[in-house]
Amino acid sequence: MTTETKDVAGDRVVIFDTTLRDGEQCPGATMTFDEKLDVADLLDAMGVDIIEAGFPIASEGDFEAVTAIAKRVKRATVAGLARAINADIDRAGEAVRHAQRGRIHTFVSTSPIHLAHQMRKSEAEVLEIITATVTRARNLVEDVEWSAMDATRTGIDYLCQCVDAAIKAGATTINLPDTVGYATPEEYAAMFRAVRERVPDSDKAIFSTHCHNDLGLAVANSLAALDAGARQIECTINGIGERAGNAALEEIVMAIRTRSDALPYRTGIETTMLARASKLVSAVTNFPVQYNKAIVGRNAFAHESGIHQDGMLKHQQTYEIMTPESVGVAKTSLVMGKHSGRNAFRTKLKELGYEFGENAFEDAFNRFKALADRKKHVYDEDIEALVDQSIAHAHD
Ligand code: KIV
Ligand code: ZN
Repeated sequence: MTTETKDVAGDRVVIFDTTLRDGEQCPGATMTFDEKLDVADLLDAMGVDIIEAGFPIASEGDFEAVTAIAKRVKRATVAGLARAINADIDRAGEAVRHAQRGRIHTFVSTSPIHLAHQMRKSEAEVLEIITATVTRARNLVEDVEWSAMDATRTGIDYLCQCVDAAIKAGATTINLPDTVGYATPEEYAAMFRAVRERVPDSDKAIFSTHCHNDLGLAVANSLAALDAGARQIECTINGIGERAGNAALEEIVMAIRTRSDALPYRTGIETTMLARASKLVSAVTNFPVQYNKAIVGRNAFAHESGIHQDGMLKHQQTYEIMTPESVGVAKTSLVMGKHSGRNAFRTKLKELGYEFGENAFEDAFNRFKALADRKKHVYDEDIEALVDQSIAHAHD
């Protein structure tokens, strides 16, 4: 039994980051060798448990990157992806053998649609492939993860047979991906519950989630599976990944931290590094982070409505469920715009070093409202300029 296996009974959730593999796989997100090392270093420093560093058979560049990451990463396990093909498994084994803790992550499709159209193999043939390839991987490394690609569109009886075969062949982690982002949280949790109940040796492996976001349910599905016994979550920084992306690491981690009452688990992530990780991944992939993205979007801790700004000035928890500092954002920002009220405007003036009597304040506030109606963003310099006008006006 591995250390991780014992954790299944506990509340510790293993965070498996696949930014450098599934994340990099999406159109336009390619990273250079050096950029991959920078991302890996940050993930390791942040406390990610497993870094999926790439797909070693995919290209010479990927092989070199996985090998280099395996050599330099100090804390995390480094995983390399492999199809259920001997050459893939050997190449992944060669790349991760330099790691202090190396993992081969091998996968095969299990759903009827993939078997019929992509693999063109029978269920019995795929079962034999699972046994052979997991055994081969186990002969190279101790730590083998097996994934049932398109698990959520696989019949439960056959899925259980596949998982049984993988565990018998020595897989230490079993991943049940929602490859096409099709499942709902209830269905996803039910699949884990059924497999864990029906496969005799299921307690010998850690169960893992891997959710894509085609219906915007990747994070909800990943979290739902925890209640059904999953203890590893596969995710990416900023949720980048194939099509609509993967479950976002920062959302998973902060949901677990913020709602520990409803989600009684813990991760090993240093959450104050989340904003930095988001910025780095956005910069190296050239993928902008949407303004309203949970946790790391630029509006995640910004308030413009007068009612919200007034509430925030009275008590931070009126409109924030976590502090910006807890994710590495310096502070809440009260954005000055046409929805801002007197309280926020007065606070902003104070911040800029101005104190007014009531009449001058009203004059400046009216000027500010008129400007905010014409201008989308009202910057500090705009406010300074209109305040100067108000002061001049008072002296006329
Ligand atoms: O989405 C998926 O099924 C995958 C596997 C390779 C784990 O990325
Ligand atoms: Zn995937």
